[in-house]
Amino acid sequence: MNVVLGVGGGIAAYKAAELARALQDRGCAVSTVMTHAAQEFIQPLTFAALTGRKVITGLFEKSSADAVLSSSVEHIAVAQENQLLVVAPATADLLAQFAHGHASDFLTTLYLAFTGPVVLAPAMNTNMWNHPATQANVATLRARANHVIVDPGSGHLACGMTGPGRLAEPPSIADAVMTALHPRRDLAGQTILLTAGPTREAIDPVRYVSNHSSGKMGYALAEAAAARGARVILVSGPVSLAAPKGVEVIAVESARDMYEAVMARLDEATIVIKSAAVADYSPIAAGQKIKKSGEMMHLDLHPTRDILAAVGQRKGARKLIGFAAETNDLLTYARRKLEQKNCDLIVANLVNQPGTGFGADQNDVTLVTRAGDQPLGRASKRALADQILDAVVALP
Ligand code: PMT
Repeated sequence: MNVVLGVGGGIAAYKAAELARALQDRGCAVSTVMTHAAQEFIQPLTFAALTGRKVITGLFEKSSADAVLSSSVEHIAVAQENQLLVVAPATADLLAQFAHGHASDFLTTLYLAFTGPVVLAPAMNTNMWNHPATQANVATLRARANHVIVDPGSGHLACGMTGPGRLAEPPSIADAVMTALHPRRDLAGQTILLTAGPTREAIDPVRYVSNHSSGKMGYALAEAAAARGARVILVSGPVSLAAPKGVEVIAVESARDMYEAVMARLDEATIVIKSAAVADYSPIAAGQKIKKSGEMMHLDLHPTRDILAAVGQRKGARKLIGFAAETNDLLTYARRKLEQKNCDLIVANLVNQPGTGFGADQNDVTLVTRAGDQPLGRASKRALADQILDAVVALP
């Protein structure tokens, strides 16, 4: 397989050399394209020596007019000769250029001419990654056909900050490249009914009770399942995430809405995965805005219906996967949920650890089945999604 590696200008550019090696270890022939900024961080010679191939460093890198002419169509040739484009580190600037179709240098021009799978591994300062402009560009790129984003990890960054933005480890990026080159279709023929995000329980027409679920875990599962060939129906509470490619999204607000949407589509599902953080209690909503009185206020809450338990009662031949979000005694509660809710698998996560669980890009989970426990450890929600689906496929 011929793969073209685009290297952006960031402190993580040196890790692109490790990625070139990891891709070669997996049987890929690697050609390298470096932006000008990348060459400030690492020499083209490093990639030439590692890959044994010429490194492209610019659109107009030759001097004679003939050479300029041949060079100026080289991006078309490179686009045609390679099966996949991987960019690491994909800087904020590169993501913006890709998202908006700019063609200002060899790499961005190649991107536009390229029709095969594209794997982007972003790396940047935490604030740059979290900026709404970057997040909008990432959402645009994630939604494009044949595009895979290998989310950055969290940790201590070269800029001195701690948070998301660190380039994913080269072996993980290389694995994502191999999956994109040889997509798994092991969920083809399955219909997966998934829930994600929080619910909102009205107190009155302007206020609600909710939780910190962002939907990232459920949306990662939906994206991974669709990529592996499943038909995915995603019942989603209110989140600010774009619909994953090829996934039918049913937007709901309250636990009651979610219950009704799940039950209405249950007959279609061969697998049900409940990653939503559903409210366990809901206020008896006032018809009008409650006025401030200055006195203590009490809310009467009634229990909501347990959707997972209700599906467990109508389980039939379906595979049923629940989550357990706990702050203590994780495995004890997870095993109890496995039995009480008639599940085949519980994804257990401790939700009081910094950087994982609610709202975070990473999670730290243990899979609990009747065959035993399998700790998956801490990883991006997207990487864990595939591991969770591997376990679902392997269920008896
Ligand atoms: O959305 P993110 O920000 O990515 O965060 C991910 C997550 C932490 C929300 C996710 O990993 C997770 O743990 N989801 C389950 C949260 C939860 O409600 O856990 P629980 O232990 O309270 O509920 C157990 C199971 O019962 C869950 O599958 C839940 O969906 C289900 N349930 C709960 C209550 C209810 N009324 N109906 C249900 O179906």
